[in-house]
Amino acid sequence: MIDLGEFGKRFTEDPHPVYAELRERGPVHQVRLPGADAHHETWLVVGYEEARAALADPRLAKDGQKIGLTFLDEELIGKYLLVADPPQHTRLRALVAREFTTRRVETLRPRVKEITDELLDAMLSRGRADLVTSFAHPLPLTVICELLGVPEMDRAAFREMSTEAVAPTSAESEYDAFVRLADYLTGLIEDKRCAAPGDDLLSGLIRTTAEDGDRLSPEELRGMAFVLLIAGHETTVNLLSSGVRALLTHPGELAALRADMTLLDGAVEEMLRYEGPVENATFRYAVEPLDIGGTPIGAGDPVMIGLTAADRDGTRFPAPDRFDIRRDARGHVAFGHGIHYCLGAPLARLEARVALRSLLERCPDLALDGPPGGWLPGMLMRGVRSLPVRW
Ligand code: HEM
Repeated sequence: MIDLGEFGKRFTEDPHPVYAELRERGPVHQVRLPGADAHHETWLVVGYEEARAALADPRLAKDGQKIGLTFLDEELIGKYLLVADPPQHTRLRALVAREFTTRRVETLRPRVKEITDELLDAMLSRGRADLVTSFAHPLPLTVICELLGVPEMDRAAFREMSTEAVAPTSAESEYDAFVRLADYLTGLIEDKRCAAPGDDLLSGLIRTTAEDGDRLSPEELRGMAFVLLIAGHETTVNLLSSGVRALLTHPGELAALRADMTLLDGAVEEMLRYEGPVENATFRYAVEPLDIGGTPIGAGDPVMIGLTAADRDGTRFPAPDRFDIRRDARGHVAFGHGIHYCLGAPLARLEARVALRSLLERCPDLALDGPPGGWLPGMLMRGVRSLPVRW
């Protein structure tokens, strides 16, 4: 049993050396999560091949009820894609999949560009800024809100509860964040139900629930609003801030990209591989005994799959700790793999490509303006709370 808490704060700031040490010893380990009690002992998969296979293994279920567990988020919010197995997962995903295809998402490009330009206009009117608050956070949040038809919100308050739900600072604040989010989503759905029906995604889902509660129950509707709104921005924020940070701390790579912007799409894939926004996939549970990479896993055991650990596996990506925008980073698992593969991957890629191109073009002298303002706690998300920049 490896107690990850023993590595202290440096594990949150830079978990890569710990994952490298674990990979050296083997692809699967029994760990105790930092700051957690004995109930938070889990298997952690750190090898690339094993992680990819585990992500697609139907014997690892997402629905905790199968092994007699119910969780805070499900209890307070409702069932959603990441805590559902087939056939429920298949039904829920089919309701939204067509909205997020590469072709459909491409039609959003002009609007994504417009939002990007507006944010950069405001940011560049000053001399320096926190890239997260001025750019990396509002861009994906505005895009997903417009797509869903979420009206203007108090951004600071929303950011606080949303980030606390995915990267909690304590068990109490996590509970509090989920209670507030559940309230917020209930109010949002109620207001939209009463307002004139729109042609946005949330209005469409509300209509589906009203017409056919078997296709989408009221609890599933709230769960869907939750996962789309939260997964739809918390992740992309980190791709933008970690991606910019990687470029600004690797001047050779930045210069190469500035000299040849056709490298941009590959650079985004390398950013996803090198410092992916989701450090570990959400929990899975063994519904029967199985073997992962030679390690026997008992029925009912929780399993955490390391996405950033897998993406730095040197047997799959040579010299894995090198940030190299020309490498072939395809096959990374930053968006997961299998039936829960990220629904929003085409949207995240579009946003990152548009945002980074505009940022680099409009800020030829972009540079870091101090250290990042703290790393997100917990083992789900990987990103910084703030990133001071100047230009
Ligand atoms: C760079 C940005 C993003 C990253 C790195 C990312 C990563 C991931 C990962 C790793 C998973 C699978 C988790 C697991 O298997 O436990 C996932 C699932 C999901 N993502 Fe993303 N995501 C990003 C952006 C988005 C966006 C923009 C949306 C907007 C709709 C989105 C919506 C979802 C949804 C709904 C799921 C659940 C899919 C399912 O269970 O079938 N994501 N994402």
